[in-house]
Amino acid sequence: MAKDKSIFTCTECGGISARWMGKCPSCNAWNTLIEGRTEPTAGKNRFGSVHASLAPTSEVLPLAQIEAADFERHPTGIDELDRVLGGGMVEGGVVLIGGDPGIGKSTLLLQAVDALQRSGMNTLYVTGEESGAQVAMRSRRLGLPDSEVPVLPEIQLEKILHTLQSRQPGIAIIDSIQTVYSDQLTSAPGSVAQVRECAAHLTRTAKSTGTTIVLVGHVTKEGALAGPRVLEHMVDTVLYFEGDTHSNFRLIRAIKNRFGAVNEIGVFAMTEKGLKGVSNPSAIFLSQHAEPVPGSCVMVTLEGTRPLLVEIQALVDSGGPSPRRLSVGLDRDRLAMLLAVLHRHAGVGCMDQDVFVNAVGGVRISEPAADLAVMLAITSSLRGKPLPKGFIAFGEVGLAGEVRPASRGQDRLKEAAKLGFKVAVVPKANAPKKNDKAFEGLTIYPVERIEEAMQVVRGLD
Ligand code: TYD
Ligand code: MG
Repeated sequence: MAKDKSIFTCTECGGISARWMGKCPSCNAWNTLIEGRTEPTAGKNRFGSVHASLAPTSEVLPLAQIEAADFERHPTGIDELDRVLGGGMVEGGVVLIGGDPGIGKSTLLLQAVDALQRSGMNTLYVTGEESGAQVAMRSRRLGLPDSEVPVLPEIQLEKILHTLQSRQPGIAIIDSIQTVYSDQLTSAPGSVAQVRECAAHLTRTAKSTGTTIVLVGHVTKEGALAGPRVLEHMVDTVLYFEGDTHSNFRLIRAIKNRFGAVNEIGVFAMTEKGLKGVSNPSAIFLSQHAEPVPGSCVMVTLEGTRPLLVEIQALVDSGGPSPRRLSVGLDRDRLAMLLAVLHRHAGVGCMDQDVFVNAVGGVRISEPAADLAVMLAITSSLRGKPLPKGFIAFGEVGLAGEVRPASRGQDRLKEAAKLGFKVAVVPKANAPKKNDKAFEGLTIYPVERIEEAMQVVRGLD
């Protein structure tokens, strides 16, 4: 008998390799290959498994003759969740919701599914991580002791599919996809092959029955969904929880949405009775300093449709022979680049210093508009001088030292003015043309280069 041949699967991209390598040959990520056997079904039926789930075969028709039916949406009644979903759960849609353990995925979904059940929809909550009793305990805690949500504690795919077929719920939660396994596959539960194949089956079921399926997935330290980042392309909507489990605030960000805008965020506070939406979140990520402190600069970031004020903190301290550059909530490579620009164009050197940068409150800022605030916070820490009270800054900084405009700069400035900020250093192209009432009380300094921004700040000392 031929020996089973081992293969290695990348936990980042799902790429495969016949032998172990330090670096994935497909996506070049390091240390992501894990051992997992070839799945016969995956080999024979490659196109039948994942890809067929996306659209059934039918006749070829010109676009104009295809009816553009609008999606049937079911709002959950939780406004902040509906906002990231683009208006509610879509019939036959598949949502992947990821986040660190303990951040509130199960809590939010139980709240959502209970609201839908109460509005008359048939629902199903499949729990593989917790027992029925644990889910019941959570519902009591949420103040929903009379919840009618049907709960199925099950991890075997075939049984879950069978229940979905027989009950035909409007929405089903799979908590979590990593616990689900199929008998048809030989690889271990939780392996990439299992997770991918199970998700593909569930996706196909959603499309053929019209059931909305929500898959819960865990995030690893690196921020990727454990193993199956491959799931992202299969589903319609990908939501990630962000936030510090130590603070009460949680952000949900849509990073992919076939039925709505991406990068839209929902803001929640974790309370004794579950997650509550925060409808006016712009100022929650500011730490409250009585007086300005060195190394702190507030920026306005634009998340989806709404501006958020976030404090960027920097600490520059003398380091050892190989100084460290660390960032939390911001890109570390970008930090290294900004330090180089700071040195070259503004004459501020941190060569022998440790540099730590943090976006307060566990928010992740991926937009380059944070550059200027990061650089001003670093300079402020290095000089030991706080920025003035009520100071904000935003703008992308390029390698040549130029300060580039941020999208919808005026909206950002309006939000800062509304919250009582007094001084703003912003890219020239973002400065309002005339004296506009909306910016009253805010002195705006437009800058074109990083040197100029430094000069303005020194002038404000
Ligand atoms: P949970 O939804 O179990 O997280 P996940 O499914 O993402 O792993 O949330 C767990 C945390 O939330 C837990 O530490 C307890 C806390 N919590 C509250 O503070 N209030 C509540 O009403 C509930 C249900 C949980
Ligand atoms: Mg959970």
